[in-house]
Amino acid sequence: MLMPNLMEAKKRSNKEVLIKTNEYIVKDNLKKLGLGKKYFIKTYGCQMNEHDTENIKAILEDMSFLETDNMEQADLILLNTCAIRENAHNKVFGMIGRIKHLKESNPNIIAGICGCMAQEESVVNEILEKYNWLDIVFGTHNIHNLPNILYETINKKDLEIEVLSIEGDIVENIPVKRDSKYKAWVNIMYGCDKFCTYCIVPYTRGKQRSRKPEFILQEVEELVKNSYKEVTLLGQNVNAYGKDLNINYNMGNLLENVAKTGIERVRFVTSHPWDFTDDMIDIISKYPNIMPYIHLPLQSGSSRILKLMGRRYTKEDYLTLFSKIKTSIPNCAITTDIIVGFPGETVKDFNETLEVVNKCKFDSAFTFIFSPREGTPAAKMQDDVSLEEKNNRLYELNELINKYSKEANDKYLNKVVPVLLESVSEKDENMLMGYTDTMKLVNVKASKDLIGKIVNVQIKDVKTWSMDGEVVD
Ligand code: SAH
Ligand code: SF4
Ligand code: F3S
Repeated sequence: MLMPNLMEAKKRSNKEVLIKTNEYIVKDNLKKLGLGKKYFIKTYGCQMNEHDTENIKAILEDMSFLETDNMEQADLILLNTCAIRENAHNKVFGMIGRIKHLKESNPNIIAGICGCMAQEESVVNEILEKYNWLDIVFGTHNIHNLPNILYETINKKDLEIEVLSIEGDIVENIPVKRDSKYKAWVNIMYGCDKFCTYCIVPYTRGKQRSRKPEFILQEVEELVKNSYKEVTLLGQNVNAYGKDLNINYNMGNLLENVAKTGIERVRFVTSHPWDFTDDMIDIISKYPNIMPYIHLPLQSGSSRILKLMGRRYTKEDYLTLFSKIKTSIPNCAITTDIIVGFPGETVKDFNETLEVVNKCKFDSAFTFIFSPREGTPAAKMQDDVSLEEKNNRLYELNELINKYSKEANDKYLNKVVPVLLESVSEKDENMLMGYTDTMKLVNVKASKDLIGKIVNVQIKDVKTWSMDGEVVD
């Protein structure tokens, strides 16, 4: 049993990160472990977790398990969890309750949790105390070891906890079962060293470790060969890419080389304003296949609160960067993340956030009420804003954000824009859905054989969160 330890997870060592190209192995006796068995996996949280799930699926299929999207038919149930806010936790514990029922009627089901919550000491303690009928808990640093962890679990019939607190090396040969045939997530780095005072990610994902450019480029070239249209380069803080490699190669260099592979669309998330260089802006504006869309979390419009958050930029820095991007990259859409009710946030601070929103007129935003995360510095700050006040601020902010989302979308009316058609629309089975280069969701009247293609679409109707359009020749 390997339990997570928060104090250990906080540490940052200078130990060199090794690149391992044959660390993932499925021993012969494990290749048939899942024969005749089905797995179900539910994913919470960010794109990083979605991509980890794609790895976990491929590993399970290497062991002969088959996927089902019906939890009630599964022999193996995994929840790939997120720890970012309290409500993410609550959702997972709610789901664990449902799994308990299934397990009561079929004790042979193997059930477990993985992902960021598994990295939390308090969560694993709670599982040991209240949910020790679960079979398996593993973290974000040892996904490649899943075959062995599963084998142990099945043999021991006891709760198996395998969570490493300190990140390991970079394992380059983990297989992947991608959800889409047209767009792909590509990790460019793991972990985060920014330690924003509210955020749990540096504890659950370990220190920043950039993948070497040659491995990233090889992966993208392979995707191009397999007719993928779009890649999204993934990291908690992609603009800091390469800083830990000591090879004088940064995010600008990587973006340029990825663009040169000829993949039709390059995206990247998430950008921290602090590391956003002029070079990067130049590269983005120079290559038409780097999409004019940037997710640029603001968090707060008050420099005083930004300082307490440990964000390392001021309101003015943010606004300068914002206008530099808008002037250098024509037609660039910018979205953001904002937290309200951070400890000590006054009405004046909150009004400054509204003021920045009024200036930037974001294309859209994810907005959150501050949620104290155990072990982070902000959790120890005095949380002096009442819940009612937090809710009121969130409501007011959302009204403003929605107004600008609609305004941004209105500009598209009757315009012709490129859309990568991905699948049948959720709202209407006679329509397809896809995203513009600027990441606007569009429902399109089009025949199914256009799925997987980038087509020109004329926008016919505009709403706050989506648009409708028709294919034009
Ligand atoms: N790496 C990204 C953010 C990842 S987390 C970045 O630095 O921008 C996604 C968003 O969740 C954050 O941008 C932040 O707005 C929000 N968030 C993170 N921790 C939070 C907390 N403790 N309470 C409320 N929102 C939080
Ligand atoms: Fe969290 Fe800050 Fe790192 Fe983003 S940059 S993952 S908010 S610590
Ligand atoms: Fe959540 Fe972990 Fe992502 S905490 S937001 S799943 S990195």
